[in-house]
Amino acid sequence: MGSAQSLKRIIDAIGDAIIENKEYLTDLDRPIGDSDHGFNMAKGFSVVKQKLPDMDNESVENLLKTVAMALISTVGGASGPLYGTAFLQASKVMKGKDEIGREDVVAIFEEATQGVAKRGKSHQGEKTMLDALIPATETLKAEIAAGAPLAEAFEKAAQSALEGVEYTKTIIATKGRASYLGERSIGHQDPGATSSYIIIDTVAKALSGG
Ligand SMILES: Nc1ncnc2c1ncn2[C@@H]1O[C@H](COP(=O)(O)OP(=O)(O)OP(=O)(O)O)[C@@H](O)[C@H]1O
Ligand SMILES: [Mg+2]
Repeated sequence: MGSAQSLKRIIDAIGDAIIENKEYLTDLDRPIGDSDHGFNMAKGFSVVKQKLPDMDNESVENLLKTVAMALISTVGGASGPLYGTAFLQASKVMKGKDEIGREDVVAIFEEATQGVAKRGKSHQGEKTMLDALIPATETLKAEIAAGAPLAEAFEKAAQSALEGVEYTKTIIATKGRASYLGERSIGHQDPGATSSYIIIDTVAKALSGG
């Protein structure tokens, strides 16, 4: 992570991954939502990617804030404001700081996740993106505290996020559109948890040079 330049590359890679997974995320949203999650997210991250080339001299704070604003204004649905809040909270953590340090990484994920929970009035176990974000954040915190290299910490966090995604298949949705299905939501994988996993996995891959 580190400098604004490397954050910019990571954000660009996240954009590519979301755009690549547009159909997959939309397919997941078909049985328990309104088939727009992949479309919404790809639209938002296309705008983010368009803005990046003009952001060479921007701070980490401004980069994260620009992502937040682009997502809030273009993604729409439930996930736009939620992901927007996550990136906005992350930008606040980085106010006045030049580089993202190891402790900042933990604070960014804690604040972003709490931001989603507050904005969504949601918590773990409701079949939402929080089921990926919360375990990933906990793993990231533990790995960084234990002195793991950042790339390794993110690989472990991505594994926890993926376990969270699997867990969403086993539970009833009590938030968002999927909650209208009640018990019939069991067996389906949550699209928002999946996009959160994709984002964290992309950070892990970018940090390990892959
Ligand atoms: N209250 C919430 N807290 C956290 N995450 C939520 C909440 N509501 C929905 N989500 C997440 O948003 C995802 C759906 O995002 P999507 O972009 O498809 O919005 P939507 O449900 O279609 O929104 P709308 O119903 O407003 O059109 C879900 O899979 C879930 O992970
Ligand atoms: Mg939807």
